[in-house]
Amino acid sequence: MLDLTAPVVVLTGAGVSAESGVPTFRGTGGLWRDYRATDLATPQAFRRDPRLVWEFYDWRRDVIAACEPNPAHHTIALMEQTLPDFTLITQNVDGLHQRAGSQNVLTLHGDIWIVRCTTCDYRSQDHRVPLPEIPPRCPRCESLLRPDVVWFGETLDADVLQRAWTAASRAGLMLVVGTSALVQPAASLPLLAQENGAMLIEVNPDETPLSPYANQHLRGPAGELLPDWWGRFQAGK
Ligand code: OAD
Repeated sequence: MLDLTAPVVVLTGAGVSAESGVPTFRGTGGLWRDYRATDLATPQAFRRDPRLVWEFYDWRRDVIAACEPNPAHHTIALMEQTLPDFTLITQNVDGLHQRAGSQNVLTLHGDIWIVRCTTCDYRSQDHRVPLPEIPPRCPRCESLLRPDVVWFGETLDADVLQRAWTAASRAGLMLVVGTSALVQPAASLPLLAQENGAMLIEVNPDETPLSPYANQHLRGPAGELLPDWWGRFQAGK
């Protein structure tokens, strides 16, 4: 029987936004021009060709700006409002959880709507689509700006990661929604939760490396299955 007062953690990945129209990283929509998204999200790519990387992010921001949160985002926002002990951890940088009403989001991989300077400490929200200048420059020191996202090979924000570890290690229930569970350290969070006694539920149409460890699988699109599951959970079923 699931305990409604136990700490609940939701970990999301690109799949939670798939039904909103945001391309996942490793799915069929993960290509831009002829580049893999995962090849452009690196410090090396940015050093080599900042314009190309910014053109990619400008395109992604444009796609995301036209998307709306889907029933999975809305259900997760409702969980935060309803449950006494709830944490949302996302690998997504798209801001759709926040637009659905989630208040406290641990953004493990940063936020595509924040830019920061590569030289000084300038950091700001920037929702302009398309950007008027590519690559954008720092209004303070004229150096290149970059998106405030974590690229491959970069370390995650230590404070955000620590809070995610703490939440995972004390969870009674963890839902893992729409992630291929391939990218560390996010992929370790469900295993840490389980080692500490949490029940794991995976919400994903496909098998992932996490699937063998999950106590329950909701095999299908999160936007369809999560609202239903939440109704049953609240009814104690
Ligand atoms: P992936 O693109 O690797 O995986 C998306 C997952 O979502 C896959 O397992 C799909 O089966 C699943 N999926 C697709 N449609 C779904 C739906 N409607 N409902 C539920 N699940 C669905 O994305 P992530 O796991 O988020 O990192 O990738 C992790 C990280 O790798 C990203 O945050 C990004 C990426 O490169 C950085 O940018 C640092």
